[in-house]
Amino acid sequence: QVSSNLMIILSIETSCDETALALVEADLSHESEQKFKIIGHELYSQTELHAKYGGVFPVMAKREHEKNLIPLLNKLLEEPNFSESGILNQESETKEKITKILERESELQKQFLEYLPNLGKPPIDAIAVTVGPGLEPCLWTGINFARALAYIWDLPIVPTNHMEGHIFSVLATEHGEQKTITYPALSLLVSGGHTELVYCKSQGSYEIIGRTKDDAVGEAFDKVARILGLPYPGGPQISALADEARRSANHESRIMNHEWKLPRPMLHSKDLNFSFSGLKTAVLYTVKKIPDLTLEIKKMLALEFEEAVVEVLTTKTKSALTQYETKSLIVGGGVIANKSIRTSLSKLAKEFGIEFCVPTKSLSTDNAIMLGIAGLINFKAGKSQRADAELRANGNLNLGA
Ligand code: KG4
Ligand code: ZN
Repeated sequence: QVSSNLMIILSIETSCDETALALVEADLSHESEQKFKIIGHELYSQTELHAKYGGVFPVMAKREHEKNLIPLLNKLLEEPNFSESGILNQESETKEKITKILERESELQKQFLEYLPNLGKPPIDAIAVTVGPGLEPCLWTGINFARALAYIWDLPIVPTNHMEGHIFSVLATEHGEQKTITYPALSLLVSGGHTELVYCKSQGSYEIIGRTKDDAVGEAFDKVARILGLPYPGGPQISALADEARRSANHESRIMNHEWKLPRPMLHSKDLNFSFSGLKTAVLYTVKKIPDLTLEIKKMLALEFEEAVVEVLTTKTKSALTQYETKSLIVGGGVIANKSIRTSLSKLAKEFGIEFCVPTKSLSTDNAIMLGIAGLINFKAGKSQRADAELRANGNLNLGA
């Protein structure tokens, strides 16, 4: 770390139903050449468990995070070219401190104490952890895990905003190529909990210029999927059905004939806000009027719903681009995995002659790599704290707050 400023961060993401860890490396000495190298990453998705209940229950999700963090860490530290060294202090004082830090995560506490004798000191310089927004019980588990590791390894902690992670997810490179964001930039963040337009004048500066007044767009996808009898999470399901409908001819006319035209909420409102709960309700009323909800009808409705979402997101983003001086359009969040939404926004960026920054499909949904990148950028900006400093979860954390 002398002249090159090469540093490695361990990142921890537990804000919702994905338990994820990553090791990301960057040389932070050059302003313009921040290349983020992914040393390793692990992710355990709880979707199968939550699918049984049709959604995420925070207490159940927290328990899953507790169970999976140590096994994932164990796997992550086995990455090739990444070796631990030295025997850690095993004094009773260490054990007492860990016991205290993890007093509210009993399963994790037990596993951590058992794992402690196998844990060396890896070449990590800092630990980034999601502190919000998200489900608070889940966030606390990640935070306390970070505090326990930071204590035994004597490392600083970088508190990280999950939504900032989604923004920086566009900087992750898979084949070593250079990726950058040219500012000022506009970000459209669309996930299960958020739908917002964020103006970023420069790196790290955020102004929320539009947001949903009720449901997030991912939430609307999930709820509509449930109305159509499809499993959780609904986004990919609706996407797939809509694609099938698109392939079969004549859908426009069928939608018109059957009066399945859905509303485009707030399309012409003067502000940059969104609303998706009315759209979901419109699907519900439409379905109630249909005596036999066949697969064909489900496909048509999925397509019409997806097109309504595409139109609203694209129109509002366009309106923001006309109002704000912008050089790039950044899109992020689980919903951006949707092909129609990606395509429409990419066309929009082209129309404005600006750069389109989009994460790979696998980095659109929650992961720890994006957190590691955000953590490294914040570390460079001096936003780290000592392992024993106060750290709290904030389920409603806002960008720019
Ligand atoms: O960012 P994310 O993984 O978690 C949150 O931070 O919320 O986003 C999850 C959301 C879910 O609502 C899921 O249904 C939606 O992203 N999603 C999609 C697609 N893939 C995931 N929505 C539409 N189309 C998709 N292909
Ligand atoms: Zn997310």
